[in-house]
Amino acid sequence: MLDVGCGSGPSTAAAATAVHPGGMVTGIDIAAPMIAAARQRIRDRDIEWIVGDAESYPLPEGHYDAIISQMGLMFFTNNAKAFANLARASRAGGRLVGVVWPTRDKISTFRFLFNSVRQTLDRLHIAYQEPPLDFGPFSLGDDRYVEQLLGESGWTDIQIEEVERPMTMAAWETSKDQQSAVDWLQMGPANAYSRTTTGCACRGRQQLDPDHKATRYR
Ligand SMILES: C[S@@+](CC[C@H](N)C(=O)[O-])C[C@H]1O[C@@H](n2cnc3c(N)ncnc32)[C@H](O)[C@@H]1O
Repeated sequence: MLDVGCGSGPSTAAAATAVHPGGMVTGIDIAAPMIAAARQRIRDRDIEWIVGDAESYPLPEGHYDAIISQMGLMFFTNNAKAFANLARASRAGGRLVGVVWPTRDKISTFRFLFNSVRQTLDRLHIAYQEPPLDFGPFSLGDDRYVEQLLGESGWTDIQIEEVERPMTMAAWETSKDQQSAVDWLQMGPANAYSRTTTGCACRGRQQLDPDHKATRYR
């Protein structure tokens, strides 16, 4: 089994447990620190780790029974090339199963963040260009695009299922949770917001973090 964009390896470890004994799992990630963290974290399972770009890495041909990915398929520079490379690495009849974001307008958390950013920038008369709905991590959010992309990259019997899960932000009780909430707000649009409207962002952060230290978040 191959885990694409495995990060620090949560799904790779679960896969290794699932195929034990007898199966073999490989995790590939473009970021060396992620693979280093995975190696450090998961020592009790026999996993092959690769630092490499899954878009072009010379994976063994016709090798994998299953290719999985937990939020790791949406970052390729050239999607067609990447999914063709994965199709080449899959054995005939092998499966590719991945979970990706839909377009950001379908996720209430991101809708909320984008609306907040939009309203604030408008109020401050700061000009901005809104990114397309499938920009960045939402690049595989359109079902018809994904169906066509996979079909043209050598995959067949394509099924797309919408799954809804609650996404919770940490509670406020401990400083660790506050840091987690601050980190969360630094993702994506909120990060852009904090870079363009520093004063407002700092006020927001002070509300989140009573021990606010401005330099900590630069
Ligand atoms: C959102 S993280 C998901 C990590 C992991 N699957 C998890 O569930 O925690 C996306 C991962 O994809 C990796 N990635 C991005 N582009 C990649 C590429 N072209 N080839 C391999 N890995 C890639 C990133 O380095 C990152 O670790």
